[in-house]
Amino acid sequence: MFVSYEVTSRVAVLTIDNPPVNALGAGVWEAIDEAVARSNGDPDVDAIVLIGAGRTFVAGADINVFKQLRTPDDAMARSAGTHAMLRRLEDSRKPLIAAIHGQAFGGGLELAIACHFRVATTDAVVGQPEVLLGIIPGAGGTQRLPRLCGVATALQMCTDGKPVPATQALKAGIVDYTTPGDLLTRAIGLAADKASLGETRKAREIAISPEMAQAGVEACATMRKTLATTSRGLRAPLAAVDAIEGGLTRSFDDGSVHERQIFARCVVSTESRALRHLFFAEREAAKIAGLPAATPALDIRRAAVVGAGTMGGGIAMTYASAGIPVLLKDVDQAALDRGLATIRRNYESAVAKGRMSAESRDRTLALISPTTSFDGFAEADIVVEAVFEDLALKKETFAALAAVTGEQCILASNTSTLDIDALGTASGRPHRVVGHHFFSPANVMKLLEVVRGRETSPSILATSVQLGKRLGKIPVVVGNCFGFVANRMLAYYMREAGLLLEEGASVPQIDAAVTGFGLPVGPFGMQDIAGIDVGARIRQHLAKTGQTRAEGPQSAVPDRLFEMGRYGQKTGAGWYRYETGSRERIPDPLVEDIAAGEARKRGVTRRTVTDDEIVARITTALANEGARVLEQGFAQRASDIDVIYCHGFGFPRYRGGPLFYAQTIGLPVVLARVREYRARFGDYWQPAPLLERLVAEGRGFYDD
Ligand code: 3HC
Ligand code: NAI
Repeated sequence: MFVSYEVTSRVAVLTIDNPPVNALGAGVWEAIDEAVARSNGDPDVDAIVLIGAGRTFVAGADINVFKQLRTPDDAMARSAGTHAMLRRLEDSRKPLIAAIHGQAFGGGLELAIACHFRVATTDAVVGQPEVLLGIIPGAGGTQRLPRLCGVATALQMCTDGKPVPATQALKAGIVDYTTPGDLLTRAIGLAADKASLGETRKAREIAISPEMAQAGVEACATMRKTLATTSRGLRAPLAAVDAIEGGLTRSFDDGSVHERQIFARCVVSTESRALRHLFFAEREAAKIAGLPAATPALDIRRAAVVGAGTMGGGIAMTYASAGIPVLLKDVDQAALDRGLATIRRNYESAVAKGRMSAESRDRTLALISPTTSFDGFAEADIVVEAVFEDLALKKETFAALAAVTGEQCILASNTSTLDIDALGTASGRPHRVVGHHFFSPANVMKLLEVVRGRETSPSILATSVQLGKRLGKIPVVVGNCFGFVANRMLAYYMREAGLLLEEGASVPQIDAAVTGFGLPVGPFGMQDIAGIDVGARIRQHLAKTGQTRAEGPQSAVPDRLFEMGRYGQKTGAGWYRYETGSRERIPDPLVEDIAAGEARKRGVTRRTVTDDEIVARITTALANEGARVLEQGFAQRASDIDVIYCHGFGFPRYRGGPLFYAQTIGLPVVLARVREYRARFGDYWQPAPLLERLVAEGRGFYDD
């Protein structure tokens, strides 16, 4: 039973109960409809309260249901039923109050605004996050919301999808009352008052004046211009503007049909399929295969970070921002001072941009205790090591940490490539050792690769995932191979970028093709930020043992740049030139000359390379290596790889990640490309066996 019915003081209390978030799935809409109808027919009832059981009002329509909508016609039919049902609710003869706690999101807010009045707890939030799933509000939200709060606010909510606090929603007219106290008591009181006054109110009957319509159309035009830069590549935010605008010049009913038509087109789009895929993939990533759900996670109260450089500083900030006191150790005071200066600068900039109060900055900074000794490490529940990427140094550090920390302390390494098991052995307690691979800047980037060593204990993994979420990250458990998942795949992406350059594409052309595809920055622009020296040192280290990061030829251009001291932005030149104090990328003909020279040395005849080939080569390399990572068991599931690449390197979410994207263009196409590249470039292009098998069986990485 999705909705319970109880009468208190002549008020029917309808409680929606569909754990965990009262999503409006099959049967739930109908149960609400029936309960409201029953209340209207109940002689012992004067008014109705609709409330959610558990932690929230309603988090929206059940996102799983959209998968069943195969065609716009399916979606039109389904949404017609929802619209009609909400209209019946709005037509309730008895006052109908939505009582909101937790969230009223998406269909949940649309349900609430079809009620006559809304009361919310002061800490509740409301929102129309549909655009984040590639759709628009499809249950009247684009029609009722502007009538309640005006076009500007509705446009903002429907295009950015951000939650709006109840206090703000009250000012905007979206909720009518807020309460810091008991929600149900307040809602029942309000319902009784409205019944005694005989007051009902239908949002759909609020008139849109010609002036409002005119101003609204202008606001829509302005929003479209803004979205051209803020929502590049996305269709749904523009579709939401179309739906709102359509309602300004049509009747409510016609506007609603128009909304449904737009919703129906969006819900079957690749953009929506990709974004919904990632919604579930991000949640699935936190689940560790083979680990009993009841595996205890340890309580992390104090942390320590070793190494106050680029990563250590960012990691310490991440802990402090989550309210966890953290010791920050480096070799000497000078190194610590440098690290702390960067941390202070970052917090100052957050204050200057209004993202943080001065008071919160002081409180957060006070949680970071700089030190050059191991004093206090005995009390730490976790130590994150972020010293130079040098195996001998890291082994020495792990041995030292085992001596100064308690038996239960988690020893985590932020290494990008080194063997977690070797660090486990060096510590003498490998079951407590795990990789916590943050991405730069660690205080900003969401991805946390949790690297599982051979002996890492289940409770350390469970703790890592829970802690990662507490730190505001998206934790994904990966296996212990060179570069783990993200950097291992990146090596193939960079290999292709380098080879395409030697074949005749230019640095700006490759970067533009990749940003045109939807990544925020191209491979060369990214390497200029991260530092060309970082990759060069890893290559030198591997060369000693005759290894490369990806099989096949590697362009020597980055090594030439490294030898010239062109490390990227930090040295004022790398793949591009930079004027002092500026990050503007200025193309440098010198780099093209070096590329031409290296191409000659390798006997490569330069040619015209199209943007399509650039995108095809790079995405095929990612998908093929992703398939290998998956079948070798270094990722638990295909969707983890998509989450990793979207959050680690900004693969466009609306394409769903490298494996989802491969599936949208068709795995047979991807396999055919690998075979074509093998014929054209050499045997280092080998189809991943999993890719071949899936194509042979007519399957994909995902069930449709
Ligand atoms: N449909 C189906 N499942 C949902 C869901 C939804 N709308 N919202 C959350 N869930 C599921 C999650 O997948 C997760 O399942 P799992 O435990 O099996 O992994 C579980 O509920 C708990 O979710 P979270 O782990 O995200 O819990 P949090 O407490 O961290 O967050 C939340 C709760 C803020 C409500 C967050 O889940 C959220 O933002 N949900 C999505 C809200 C949304 O996008 N609503 C709009 C839906 S589209 C719509 O309404 C269309 C309409 O216009 C017709
Ligand atoms: P960095 O050079 O900026 O900082 C390293 C810091 O460690 C320096 O401050 C150094 O003084 C300190 N240090 C060296 N030996 C020490 C010791 N024995 N005790 C205490 N401190 C010591 O290096 P960065 O970039 O922060 O990298 C650190 C680690 O993080 C490396 O393992 C790297 O591979 C990894 N990493 C780096 C990323 C990046 O983008 N820079 C991304 C993800 C991981």
